[in-house]
Amino acid sequence: MANHKIAIIVGSLRDGSINRKVARSLCALHDRLDCEIVEIGDLPLYNPDLDGDDRPAAWSSFRDAVKGADGVLFVTPEYNRSMPGALKNAIDVGSRPYGGSAWAKKPAAIITVSPGALGGALANHALRQCCVFLDMPVMQQPEAYLGQVGDDKFGDDGLLKDGDLKKLVQTIAKAFADWCDIIIGGQSKLLGDSEQQMKNGG
Ligand code: FNR
Repeated sequence: MANHKIAIIVGSLRDGSINRKVARSLCALHDRLDCEIVEIGDLPLYNPDLDGDDRPAAWSSFRDAVKGADGVLFVTPEYNRSMPGALKNAIDVGSRPYGGSAWAKKPAAIITVSPGALGGALANHALRQCCVFLDMPVMQQPEAYLGQVGDDKFGDDGLLKDGDLKKLVQTIAKAFADWCDIIIGGQSKLLGDSEQQMKNGG
């Protein structure tokens, strides 16, 4: 199976973010996911009035980075029982201009990480709701609400120490690589079939 180029969107802008540490750990744990964290902290707030030929360069490079990926992995904290504003802004930026969404059809997975017991489950589902509208096939299982995660779970290198959490993140990474195989493989087959039909005269 081919490797998949994955754009990781981290919902926290914080230095020392546990979400970013989980994202970096996941990249190191699966060799078929070629991951790149696409930064969202410098994206101006989305305003359609500014989305003409002179649009902010940061919007264009963000859209290009997402479009160039095979799949998208969101790793985010929960803020006030929803997703952080910075992440919602990134979703909005990537979704426009109308008809040119960077997100459409990209296989996706959502991991939420929190020191709290609920593991950011409500943020996870708020984000999932956006993905439905954005036409992103989102991995359903395993659900990834990582709760009670503190700095003690990480070593000096900022990566997950050996233990149950690391094993779970490894399982999620493997499931996401499989999910990308299924979705991308299915999409290529459909494309191949329709090209074949065209060649055969419709
Ligand atoms: C939080 N936090 C939080 N945690 C949670 O489980 N549910 C929540 O609704 C909230 N709400 C919330 C709002 C705001 C504005 C902040 C700053 C924080 C706590 C949050 O999970 C904690 O700060 C994490 O460490 C944030 O993730 P990073 O930045 O470490 O990746």
